[in-house]
Parts: sequence; structure tokens; C-alpha cells
Amino acid sequence: MNPKYRPLMESFHFKNGVEVKNRIVLAPMTISYSQQDGTISDELIAYYESRSNGVGMAVTGSTIVTPNSRVFGGELAADHDDKIPSLQRLATTIKKSGAKSILQIFHGGRESSPEVVPNSEIVSASAVAKEGLSVFPRALEEKEIGEIIRAFGASTRRAIEAGFDGVEIHGANRFLIQQFFSPYTNQRDDRWGGNIDKRMAFPLAVVDEVQKVVAECAKQPFLVGYRLSPEEEWTPGITMADTLKLVEALANKSLDYLHFSLMDFWSKPRRGVEDNRSRMEIIYELVGQRVPVIGVGSIHTPDEALRALQSGVPFIALGRELIIDPDWVGKITLGKENEIRTELTLNDQEKLGIAEPLWLKIINTPGWFPIADKT
Ligand SMILES: Cc1cc2nc3c(=O)[nH]c(=O)nc-3n(C[C@H](O)[C@H](O)[C@H](O)COP(=O)(O)O)c2cc1C
Repeated sequence: MNPKYRPLMESFHFKNGVEVKNRIVLAPMTISYSQQDGTISDELIAYYESRSNGVGMAVTGSTIVTPNSRVFGGELAADHDDKIPSLQRLATTIKKSGAKSILQIFHGGRESSPEVVPNSEIVSASAVAKEGLSVFPRALEEKEIGEIIRAFGASTRRAIEAGFDGVEIHGANRFLIQQFFSPYTNQRDDRWGGNIDKRMAFPLAVVDEVQKVVAECAKQPFLVGYRLSPEEEWTPGITMADTLKLVEALANKSLDYLHFSLMDFWSKPRRGVEDNRSRMEIIYELVGQRVPVIGVGSIHTPDEALRALQSGVPFIALGRELIIDPDWVGKITLGKENEIRTELTLNDQEKLGIAEPLWLKIINTPGWFPIADKT
């Protein structure tokens, strides 16, 4: 291995005792390979086997906690005990190569498509329709909010029983937890909405419930991470100042890590703070000494990963890059970093085991994945 890349391959010890073999994380990616009921297909197993190989930690694609959590259909499921054997198969596959296995748990809220949820009924913090759509979600009732919080806990218990090393609470990408935090999608005037403290109540209640279940059920150290998207682009919406307040509250919860969902690791705040540094640098300065941080976003080459790591964050997640080159880590450790591929070609679908729906989305969404001109 080229010695300059050693910092990427150093092990990391979480304070709860879990040791991760290196600093590279497989970013959570829903690639629609599970069966319609959310159980694991052979293709999905093959995907996780190749993409977990070499990384220190692998986070699964988002996994539903209740039947009405689904967004697209075909997501992984942890909404019932009958999913435990299937989850067990997934955890075993990820752990085979020594990666820590993290189940990302989520509820889609108003992002759900009516066709994939029971009775076509979409729920959210408030009845605010998605932009450009006339489908209004139903505002959740007090009792239902408690049920969803407990469903995050029950899914965590299933992850523990299935042998996962941790769960990641998905508070990012506009799904239900973010909908409660956003002043745009949360227009409630009860204890779950209003000022920023009340808008944080649901995200923090989910954290408390998940940590309670871990304390009760886990027989060995089990990681609890939280993923969030800093800022929303619309006004009213989550500002960088709001994000920093939530980050501070999460850091006080003794979470094992915070994971930031960004398309560009070096992106700068839009509004809410007067600071010319990147969002990750600002966040790292605020909480980086208290809670390990995972950064992500358009990192493809080992030099880009190294530069991101030098910002101070202990972990770098790779999403699209590990779809493009599943041997990314292996090539670095063998000193073959020059052979790392950072672009797809139009011939790669079968070789890389990319399912048809994802492949079509990739080639029909210009600019999403880097695609070489040559075929
Ligand atoms: C195909 C695909 C599916 C994704 N699914 C999820 C998901 O289930 N949960 C999640 O938090 N982020 C999801 N993301 C976002 C990634 O985790 C990551 O934040 C984003 O792709 C930026 O990282 P990258 O530049 O390394 O790809 C997905 C991204 C891709 C490309």
C-alpha cells in the first residue's frame, strides 16, 4: 500500500468498544433488489457481498419500520418479526468480510407513493403536500406518533436479534423524521411542532426509544448512529442554524456517530450562519470532539477521500463510487490505486450486477453517475 493512504486504512475504536477496521463506510443505498415484501433476494445478497468487501462499516439501504413507511416499494423491511431471518441473512453477508453491519431504519412520511402503502394513505407531521403534487398526507395523531416511535424501537430489537452491529436512524433526505424537524412540513401546534425545540421533539424521542431498546436487548456493544441532511433549499425550511441546534442536541444524546447526507462533502451553508467554511468543517468544529462524524458526497479517488479525512472527520462514506468500483478498498491496500475506476461505461450493468430499475435510472438521469463517453 502507498504509505500516504495509511490514514484511510487505520482502525477506529468507538467508545462502546466496537472496533472498525478502517475509515471507509459503504453509504446507505436503496437499490431495489429486495422482494416486494421487503425480504432479501439473492441479487441483494450478491450486491452487499461485493460492496461490503473491504470497507470498515456498511450501512444498508433504508429499511421500513412500519408497513406505511415505504416510499418506492421494494425497500428492505424490519416492520415485523417475520423479517428477522431475512435480516439475519443480510447481516451475516455484510459481516463475512469483517465489515460492521449497520441497518438504516426509516419512515418515508409524505415521500411515500400511495400505491405502496396500506389503503394508499400517506401520513406526515402535517397535511403538507409534496411540491407539484396534489396528494395531501394526513397529519399523524398523537397516538400514532407514539406507535411510530415504538416501531423504530421494535425494528432496532429485530436488528439486534438478526445480528447487526448497529442501526442508523434515518433523519435525512426529506423523510418523516426530517418532516417533523422542518418548519415547512411541520405546522403542528401541539408538543410535536411549533418552535425549534418542539420540532426536535420527534427526532429526539426516536433516539431515546432506540437507545432504550439497545440498553434492554443488546448483549454486546451495539452502535446507534443518526443521519441528517443539513439544510433544506426552500424557505421556510431547515437552515444551517437549525441544523447546528439539532446537531448539538444529538451530540448530547451519546450517539455513537452522526452521519451527514450531502451530495458534495465540501458544500457550504446556504443560509443561517455567516461562515465561509464547508458545512462539514463547521459541524466538525461544533461536535467533532464529542461524537464521531461520517462525511460523504462526491468522493471518488483515494486522494479525495484522504483530503476529506484530513478535515478531521474520522469516517468517509462512499456511495456511487462503490457501485462503480466494488474493489475500491482492495485496490488501495494492494497498491493498485491507479486501477480504481471512477466512471461507468454503458457496458457495465451486468459486470457490476446493477439491477435493471437502478440501471435505467442511472442512464436516464444525466449527471447523477459519472458515465464515460465510450461504450
Ligand atoms: C442509488 C442510491 C440510493 C440511495 N439510497 C439511500 C438510502 O436508502 N438512504 C440514504 O440515507 N441515502 C441514500 N442515498 C444517498 C447516499 O447514501 C449518499 O449520501 C449520496 O449518494 C452521496 O454520496 P456519493 O457521492 O458517495 O454517492 C442513495 C444514493 C444512491 C446513489
